[in-house]
Amino acid sequence: MTHPTDIRRERVLRVLDVYCCQGGAGQGYADAGFDVTGVDITPQPRYPLAFHQGDAIDFIRAHGAGFDFIHASPPCQHYSRTQKIRHRTHPDLIAPTRAALEATGRPWVIENVEEARTELRNPVVLCAAAFGMRTYRHRLFETGGGFTLTPPPHPAHTAPLTKMGRPRRPGEFAHYVGNFSGVQDARDDMRVPWMNRDGIRECIPPAYTRWIGEQALVQLTAWQVAA
Ligand SMILES: C[S@@+](CC[C@H](N)C(=O)[O-])C[C@H]1O[C@@H](n2cnc3c(N)ncnc32)[C@H](O)[C@@H]1O
Repeated sequence: MTHPTDIRRERVLRVLDVYCCQGGAGQGYADAGFDVTGVDITPQPRYPLAFHQGDAIDFIRAHGAGFDFIHASPPCQHYSRTQKIRHRTHPDLIAPTRAALEATGRPWVIENVEEARTELRNPVVLCAAAFGMRTYRHRLFETGGGFTLTPPPHPAHTAPLTKMGRPRRPGEFAHYVGNFSGVQDARDDMRVPWMNRDGIRECIPPAYTRWIGEQALVQLTAWQVAA
């Protein structure tokens, strides 16, 4: 079988990673072989790749068409049950982000949490256990611009879960949410050694976007050959 990175290309393909935070998603595309630029509204000194501070939708509108593939992870607080219970309001960024992405004519994904399922069109679920991690961490991915995503087989959730605030016992899976304990354990498990707790709580493990990026490389290369 030909691996995507074996296919000869004239230049390194570029990914735009908007709402990038500390770069879980961005690092996975870099691992797949892309040149990655991250954009976030707040400074992200831990982001491990090229970074621009600014508004995601403005940046997509101004520069998105110049990238080969675009990844967007709008903040999930608007869709979170906890935030609704606390009567906090957050902007709904999925629909305007989609509109900006569609206008670029480039292939893209929008990622979000399960609570945002009704906002996403035919999303694909990726689960950390499918990538050998000791956490489940479901994330949904809507695709567009001609890109299609096939998930790996989804293993049954059979491992017992560590109770919040307790150390993990052998064989247990943990959720890295809220003020979870065991930051180093989470770094090791999700392979994000540069992140702090805030970044880990928000991130997609790089393995997810390496998986997506390798499929994007195959599809982008096939389009180049056909053009
Ligand atoms: C869920 S996190 C993204 C996690 C990231 N994909 C990862 O894998 O590490 C969402 C990020 O969106 C950023 N953000 C919120 N509003 C934004 C906006 N209007 N433009 C750009 N970034 C924004 C937040 O600062 C936060 O870092």
